[in-house]
Amino acid sequence: MADLSVNICGIDFKNPIIPASGVFGYGREYEEFYPLSELGGIATKGTTGQKRTGNLSPRIAETPAGMLNSVGLQNPGIDYFIQNELPNLLTKDTVILANIAGASVEECAEVAKKLDSTEVHMIELNISCPNVKQGGAAFGTSCEMAEQVTAAVRKATKKPLIVKLSPNVTSITDIAKAVEAAGADAVSLINTLLGMRIDIRTKRPVLRNNVGGLSGAGIFPVAVRMVWQTANAVKIPVIGMGGVNTGEDAIELMMAGASAVQVGMAVFTDPYAPIKIIHQMHDFLDENHISSVRDIIGTVQPW
Ligand code: FUM
Repeated sequence: MADLSVNICGIDFKNPIIPASGVFGYGREYEEFYPLSELGGIATKGTTGQKRTGNLSPRIAETPAGMLNSVGLQNPGIDYFIQNELPNLLTKDTVILANIAGASVEECAEVAKKLDSTEVHMIELNISCPNVKQGGAAFGTSCEMAEQVTAAVRKATKKPLIVKLSPNVTSITDIAKAVEAAGADAVSLINTLLGMRIDIRTKRPVLRNNVGGLSGAGIFPVAVRMVWQTANAVKIPVIGMGGVNTGEDAIELMMAGASAVQVGMAVFTDPYAPIKIIHQMHDFLDENHISSVRDIIGTVQPW
């Protein structure tokens, strides 16, 4: 069987498949389906300084090739996470990426500082949530703000720092270069694309927040394009995500330049999706006589 292991920022992953932040909670619901140790890693739900109840409902809507969400970073707060969720996650023999967010630079730095004294393996700083008024995409759509918040979090922690980027920008490579310069060890992309649907009978937007983030198969080509462009623009590793549903999607994103792949919406339609993707990657590599998944990273040959 092909070797699926990868190393990102000095951290060993047994395979490159990571359920994305926000679709996997803290893993508890999925443990009923399979051992979490089968996963390369787990990105936890975005955690802020204080508990957040999130946006008003409806905050999820299906679309023909995906889903719109405006959850609004609902989470129990960093202290609760550290005391009640992280200890359980750290027993799971998989890499734990603590996803963090905040309404201000100071809040992001404070959350990172609290995590610095834990055993969490990596921090993923979300500067790309489209569903909150302060922080979130407001940080991730300006090079200056992206650099400022990354630098503050970098100062607050020695943990490997991944910065999660927004696709809702003119040039994602400019933002990637800004966070690399500010001390990010890796970038992950893409978060959701800002979208909107309207119920034509009520004339109301389907989401109470009017707009929300689009994820799912429909955004996959955008993810491939942005991962490819970013991997060619920065020296730090890129973690790819956005509409991955199959092992072949994950292989494609890695050929575009991703060192690992996060799986988002697919776990809502099939909780086994990450496990199936791992098996499908094995099948592809074995059928094509590729001994290590590392050998496919960035191997796309553009015309
Ligand atoms: O609204 C949310 O909680 C989603 C966050 C995100 O897409 O980053």
